[in-house]
Amino acid sequence: MNLLDGKKVSEEIKNEIATEVAKMKANGEKVPHLAAIIVGNDGASLTYVGSKVKSCERVGFESTLVKMPSTTSETELLKKIKELNLNDDIDGFIVQLPLPEQIDTQKIIMAIDPSKDVDGFHPENFGKMALDMTTFIPATPFGILELLERYNVETKGKHTVVIGRSHIVGRPMSILMGRRGFPGNSTVTLTHSHTKNINQITSQADIIITALGVPNYLKAEMIKDDAVIIDVGITRVPDETTEKGYKIVGDVDFEFVSKKASFITPVPGGVGPMTIAMLLKNTLLAREQKRS
Ligand code: GUN
Repeated sequence: MNLLDGKKVSEEIKNEIATEVAKMKANGEKVPHLAAIIVGNDGASLTYVGSKVKSCERVGFESTLVKMPSTTSETELLKKIKELNLNDDIDGFIVQLPLPEQIDTQKIIMAIDPSKDVDGFHPENFGKMALDMTTFIPATPFGILELLERYNVETKGKHTVVIGRSHIVGRPMSILMGRRGFPGNSTVTLTHSHTKNINQITSQADIIITALGVPNYLKAEMIKDDAVIIDVGITRVPDETTEKGYKIVGDVDFEFVSKKASFITPVPGGVGPMTIAMLLKNTLLAREQKRS
């Protein structure tokens, strides 16, 4: 079994980005500036956004965190987005999901200027991605592609099974793995809550990407020998033996699945840190596009 070490690879990527930023600074150019909007007090979302902002510092980016109360109306959030769209100093921004239920997520995503949509969620960017055009690729799928590439995991002609069809991970991942080129050229099956006989499908997969959010869902009996396993799950499970009172658990029953897999991502330290690194990469791209 080979570990796909997202922690290590994400550090490499952040070092590469930091080198680019240092060059910009040395040339007297403006450095990339990422903003993040968070609405409400969800502990996990606050932690993720906090990590995103902290990583900006690490690579030399400027960052702005906009915290809005859970009672924020759709109109108020749209107004803030308009402000960020018009603010020339900000190269890219994200609105952390999920949003409180009084806010229509699609409406919010549609309001983001596509040239600043470093999450790659706007339909213009999502469409470009599906059409193989240059654009912002959503950070989590982008991070998975980067891991596969840097570990030289063969994807051509392989059967990739994606579990979960979320707009953030499963859906874009299924498109990207079937695209021309590397990593890609896979035959893709996208499975979801209405899929029948899922064990039969997963046990035929060369590559499984699971983005379900159900702890220890994927068992060793569901995979074939030497499958490649990518675990996107990050669920907080109460654990009094830890300082924080919880631990992070993936979708994969790691202890047993890792014994059968050829490559596998750990949780934590797999896909999670890659997501942040690729968000920074997209922000650097946004800055560079503005410059050219
Ligand atoms: N919530 C979970 N993952 C993401 C992400 O990649 N971007 C945003 N904006 N919200 C998320």
